[in-house]
Amino acid sequence: MTNAILKRLPITWIKEIIDLTIERIVVVDREGIILFINSTYCEFLDVKQEFAIGKPVQQVIENTRMHIVATTGKEELEGLQPINGSVMIANRYPLIIDNELVGALGTVKYPGPDNLRQSKNKIQDLIDELNFYKTKAQKELQSKYNFADLTGSSPIFLAAKKLAEKVSGSNSSVLLTGESGTGKELFAHAIHHSSMRSEHPFVALNCASIPQDLFESELFGYEDGAFTGAKKGGKKGQLHLANDGTIFLDEIGDMPLSMQSKLLRTLQENEINPVGGQSTIPINLRVIAATNQDLMKMVDEGKFRKDLFYRLNVINIEIPPLRERKEDIAPISIKILEKLERNFYRSGTLLSSEVIERFKHHSWPGNVRELENVLERAINVLDGRTIELSHLPLYLRDPETVASRGGSSVTNPPKDAELLQVSPLKKTIAKVEKQEIKNALIFTNGNKIEAAKLLGLGKTNLYDKCKKYEIK
Ligand SMILES: Nc1ncnc2c1ncn2[C@@H]1O[C@H](COP(=O)(O)OP(=O)(O)O)[C@@H](O)[C@H]1O
Ligand SMILES: [Mg+2]
Repeated sequence: MTNAILKRLPITWIKEIIDLTIERIVVVDREGIILFINSTYCEFLDVKQEFAIGKPVQQVIENTRMHIVATTGKEELEGLQPINGSVMIANRYPLIIDNELVGALGTVKYPGPDNLRQSKNKIQDLIDELNFYKTKAQKELQSKYNFADLTGSSPIFLAAKKLAEKVSGSNSSVLLTGESGTGKELFAHAIHHSSMRSEHPFVALNCASIPQDLFESELFGYEDGAFTGAKKGGKKGQLHLANDGTIFLDEIGDMPLSMQSKLLRTLQENEINPVGGQSTIPINLRVIAATNQDLMKMVDEGKFRKDLFYRLNVINIEIPPLRERKEDIAPISIKILEKLERNFYRSGTLLSSEVIERFKHHSWPGNVRELENVLERAINVLDGRTIELSHLPLYLRDPETVASRGGSSVTNPPKDAELLQVSPLKKTIAKVEKQEIKNALIFTNGNKIEAAKLLGLGKTNLYDKCKKYEIK
C-alpha cells in the first residue's frame, strides 16, 4: 500500500477500522515497548491505554512473547496464551519495514471450534510428553536389582543375604559394611526392592562425590532466592525426592561433620528444612548407608558423630570380601560373563579350569568389581570361546606376581584341601546353573516365564534345562 492510497483516510478512521476489524491488537518496537494497543485489548486486560503505551509489553500482557518475536523476527501463529484465566489464541507477526525488523504486531482472540480442537490436541500432546518424562524420572528412581541378582552360595555370603532379606521388610536403618566392590550397592537395591517401599523412590547418593559447598543444598534442597545463582523456584533435595521410599547414602564416611548433625536431626524429627527457608517439610524415609571405612574408629577419632553412627547402625550387614568366599568366584564369573555376552553379542564363552584355579588363589583386593574388569578385559582379547590364562592381565597370569602382590596368607595356596579340589568345569557350570534356576523359580513363585526373564534365557531353553536338571 502506498502512502498515496492512504492519503484520503483520516487517522481517526484508521483507528476506528482497526478497532472494528481486529478484536485485540498490540504493536511493540524491537525492545518490546508497546507503541500501540487498541481499546478492545485494554478493556480485556483491564488496563488504561495511556498506562499501557510506552511500557515493556511483559508488564502489561500475561505470558506474552511479543518481545521475543520482535527480536527473532519469526512469526508465531495460533499460539496458546493464557490471559486473565482464559486460554487465548495468539498470532504474532514480525513487523518488517523497508527490509528492516522494526518490531512486532500481535493479536489475540478467543478460540473458535477449530482452534479448540487444535488446542485440545496440543494439550494432549503436552500431557503425553509430561507423562513420558514422569515415568522416565520415576524409573530412574527405582531400584534396579533384586536378591536374585546377588550371586553366591558360600555360607558367609548366604548369611549376609539372608539377613538382608529378613530386614528388608522393616523400616529400620541398615548399615552395609565391606570392602570396595563387594556388592554393597547391589544389596541396597535388593533391600529396597523387596521392601514395602518398592513402589516409592530409591534415591542413591554418593557422599564422596558431592563437593562440600553443595552438600547441604543437594541433600536438603533450597528455597527460591536462597543464594545468588540459586535456581528460580528452588530445588528439591535428595532427601525430599526419596520421600516414602529409601535413601541410599553411599560412602557415608565422607559426609562432612556439619551435614552429619543436620542429617541426624532430619532422621530424628522426620522433617527437612530446605536452605534459605523457614518452612519444614515432613518426610518419611528409610535410610540405608554404606561404607568401606571403619566408622567406629572414625567415631573415636572424632571424625564421625557417635549419635549418627548409632542411628544408622541399627542393623549392620557385613558383606564378606571375595577372597573369603572362593566358592562364589566361579558362579559370579558365570553371571558376569552372561552380562558381558549380552553387551558384546557373543554366546558360549567358557572359563578354563586353570583360570578358575588362578582366580581362587588371587586375593581380589577390588573384589567383584575387579573380577568384572578382569573378565571384561578377557572378552575383549578373546579369539576363541574359552578364556585361558593368556587372556588375563599380567598380574594374574604370573603366579609369582600374584603371590608377592597380596603378600598375605590369603594369596598363598589355601591349606584347605577342599579349596584345591577343582571339578571339571562342565560339572561346576551345571551345578551353578541348576542352583540359579532353582533360585529364580523360588523368587518368582514357580513362574517359569518370569524366571526365564530373570535368568536371561528363552522360555523353551528354560523348559529344556528344567527337564535336564529334573526341576519341577
Ligand atoms: N554377588 C554378586 N553377584 C553378581 N554381581 C555382583 C555381586 N556383588 C557385586 N557385583 C557386581 O560388582 C560390582 C560392584 O558392586 P557394588 O555394589 O558397586 O560394590 P560396592 O558398592 O560394595 O563398592 C557391580 O557391578 C555389581 O553388579
Ligand atoms: Mg559402592
